[in-house]
Formats: sequence, structure tokens, C-alpha cells
Amino acid sequence: RTAAVLLAGGTGTRLYPASREDRPKQFLALGDDDRSLLRRTADRAGFADDLFVVTRDAYADRVRDEVPEATVLVEPEGKDTGPALAYAASRVADDAPDATMLCLPSDHVVGDGFRETAETAVDVAERTGALVTLGVEPDRPATGYGYVEPGADRGDHFEVAQFREKPDESEAERLLARDCLWNAGMFTWTPEAFLDAARAGPLAPVVSALETGGVADAFARADPVSVDYAVLERAGDVRVVPAGFDWDDVGAWDALERLLDGENAVLGDAATVDASGNVLASDDKHVSVVGANDLVVAAFDDRVLVVPKDDAQRVRELVAELREQG
Ligand code: GDD
Ligand code: MG
Repeated sequence: RTAAVLLAGGTGTRLYPASREDRPKQFLALGDDDRSLLRRTADRAGFADDLFVVTRDAYADRVRDEVPEATVLVEPEGKDTGPALAYAASRVADDAPDATMLCLPSDHVVGDGFRETAETAVDVAERTGALVTLGVEPDRPATGYGYVEPGADRGDHFEVAQFREKPDESEAERLLARDCLWNAGMFTWTPEAFLDAARAGPLAPVVSALETGGVADAFARADPVSVDYAVLERAGDVRVVPAGFDWDDVGAWDALERLLDGENAVLGDAATVDASGNVLASDDKHVSVVGANDLVVAAFDDRVLVVPKDDAQRVRELVAELREQG
């Protein structure tokens, strides 16, 4: 029995102004598909026996609209993915006994072949009692991802020699040289295996508060921490199943280039003259670029962003600045 658990509580700042705190990345329809990333994730997980979505209060109604078939677990406060998954594990253990969790971020673009890899991974988790992650073949020393170093070959998966979350660039280069894979952020484990591993780290007070029934108490006690740092980097038995599908986290605007064909990557409506390598994204606005290359122009609501494509990651700095200004 498989219980899919979708994580849908992140804020996704680098896709400003399409992604805003009140409308984060998972609710956007990016690329050549009308469905939101969250809806696509639910469809992709359709083979699971149970479907849960963990999210924060502010997004709960939106999630219920988009994924009416799911059980929505609402966090009292957003404390990152560690506490969110501890909460989900305790609920799955209660509501769907004997189910293995298949935990999926809701803000990724995923190609064909997902189901086969996911079913293999669930099988590995059931067979071994380990924490299992899906691994993606890297193509650059990205600093925004976790890395898994494969160890012993176990046929349909590898043992994990090392799990390293968000290394700096020189460390990422070293990890690539050791044939590491990217952590796709998609995990499978039994609730018991996860809760045992979580008890050994910074989530210990959260797990023990959940056991005595207090979700509000558990989140009040929780320090914000991602599952990668809180559990995967420390766990004794982690396994990786290499992903047999295309994958992109769509972290920042430059990622659209990888999803959309053409001289310019256009999401929405645009016209160009003597312009190439641009990412042009808009809602109901028509965007034009003349004689300029390698820019991001993003126009959503009453906001326009222009940034050189190579600086697309720096939108994070802008959003921080805007927040400060209130
Ligand atoms: N419910 C809930 N609550 N969900 C959350 C929260 C929270 O407080 N914070 C983030 N999420 C959701 C996001 O919406 C997303 O779907 C997922 O959890 C992952 O969070 P991100 O914040 O996007 O993580 P990341 O991209 O920096 O890093 C993770 O994913 C990478 C691959 O995309 C890590 O697992 C990395 O190791 C991994 O490489
Ligand atoms: Mg992400």
C-alpha cells in the first residue's frame, strides 16, 4: 500500500513576480501545460492508494480546490519540510496503517517514466526498511540541490555513501567528480523508519510531541529545518534509486529555457525583433523585446521584472529587499 504525501507549503521566491507569497510556485502552470505544478504532481501520484497534501494554513483552501481528492494536512506554522514530514508520517501511521510513504515536492516539472522509478523505490523502501531517495543525473555543479554519493550496487538501487545538502560550488564540483547524483527531493520510506531516524536528530522534540497527540505543540517546539539536514544527512541507512525520467526543479526564471523550445523561451504572449536567448513570461500581458539578448522579462499582475538571465538567482535578493520595504 502506497500513501503519496505531497509537500505544498513552500513560498518559491525566485520566480517573482509570478510567484508571490500569496501564490507560490506550486500553484503556477509553468511550461507547456495548463495544469498547476501541484495538480500535475497529484495526477502523477494517481497510482498511489492514498493521497495526502501537507501545506500551511494560508494555502489550505487553494489546495482543497485543486486537489479535492486529497486529505489535506494543515501545519499550524510553516517550519520547513522536516516538521511537515514528521507530521505527515504520524498521520499516515494512524490513517493508513501499513502504507509506505511516497513524499513528493509539488513544484517540479517531471517527464515520463516517473511511475516506474517510484514503484521501484517504494519496493526498495518496503524490502529494506531504509530511507530511499530518487537520484537525478546532474549536469552542472548546482548549489541549490542535495547530492547523494552512491555506494554498493544493490541491483535496483544503490546504498548511499554520503548525503550532502546544498554544498558550495567547489564542494559541488568535488561531488560531481565522485559521480554523485542530485537528490530529487522525492523520498519513500515507511512511517516507522522515518520517525525512528527523525528521533535521532533535531526533530526529536517534534516527534515526541506528535506521539502525545499535540500537533500545535509539536510545531510550537519545532525549529525550522529541512528534512535533508534534519534526517537524510544523518540517517544510517539511506538508499538511492536512479530516476528514469526528465526532471527540473524550476527554481528560477532561467529554468524556463530548459522547458520551452525556441529562440526565446516564451510563457504567455510575446513578440521579438532581433532578440534571442531571452526568457519572456507574462500572464495576460503582451511582452515585446527588440534588439536585446539573454534577458528575463517577467510581467505578472501589476509587477514587471527585468534581469539578465545569468543573474536570475539574484531575484531572491530583490524579494528580500521588497520584503524589507514592506
Ligand atoms: N508543507 C510544507 N511546509 N511544505 C514545504 C515547506 C513547509 O514549511 N517548505 C517547503 N515546502 C515544500 C515546497 O513547496 C516544495 O514542494 C518542497 O517542500 C521542497 O522545498 P524547497 O524549499 O523547494 O526545497 P529545495 O528545492 O530548496 O531543496 C530540496 O529539493 C531539492 C530538489 O528540488 C532538497 O530536498 C534538496 O536536497 C533537493 O536537491
Ligand atoms: Mg525546490
